[in-house]
Amino acid sequence: MSHLIAPSLLAADFNNLAKEMDMINQSEADWLHFDVMDGRFVPNISFGIPLLKAVKKSCNRPIDVHLMIVEPEKYIELFREAGADVITVHYEACPHLHRTIHQIKESGAKAGVALNPHTPVSVLENVIEEADLFLLMSVNPGFGGQKFIYNTIPKTRQLFDMITVKNAKALIEIDGGVGLQNAEALLKAGARVLVSGSAVFKADDPLDTIKRMKKIGRKEYLV
Ligand code: DX5
Ligand code: ZN
Repeated sequence: MSHLIAPSLLAADFNNLAKEMDMINQSEADWLHFDVMDGRFVPNISFGIPLLKAVKKSCNRPIDVHLMIVEPEKYIELFREAGADVITVHYEACPHLHRTIHQIKESGAKAGVALNPHTPVSVLENVIEEADLFLLMSVNPGFGGQKFIYNTIPKTRQLFDMITVKNAKALIEIDGGVGLQNAEALLKAGARVLVSGSAVFKADDPLDTIKRMKKIGRKEYLV
């Protein structure tokens, strides 16, 4: 199975959301990434459940909800009911991570665990077979449009090896500063889902940018 592209709504034009959703619906994007920020876990506030409900009605792709919030376990069922297909919580925000992963799965969503750039992948050792997805932050969470942290590439490879050794099935998702310039290196290191905000929505031609990101690694890309 080839890799997945998840454009991040955070970089969309909120004055033209219907148009942005039309673009996603016509595109080769696989998921729509939806960043929830609470002003506590991260130094910024974004959007939440009412917007998710609206987006769910106009977007025909699975919604990949990234919870950058404290105490995410309080809101999992609400996000699921609002339309989340994937729910990712931060390792740093979950003292009972194993329980929270299973709470997400019981809600019917796919369960993801995110790591901040400074958190080593070794902390995932005891949940490597539990989660459906691991999200590596390649910028410090809180804002779109930041510079990619290069250490994410060896970190991706390290996590890929941990998953492979245990014959686990989790996908690796990379989030922050991802675009055409680093997508290939990330995919080679073992990434399967690429989140891309600014590089897609701020591009002159978002549809073509998504198309080019999807082509990476395919035969026609090499010719
Ligand atoms: C950052 C968010 C990202 C953000 C990525 O905290 O988690 O999903 O939207 O945006 P870009 O691709 O612009 O770095
Ligand atoms: Zn995100």
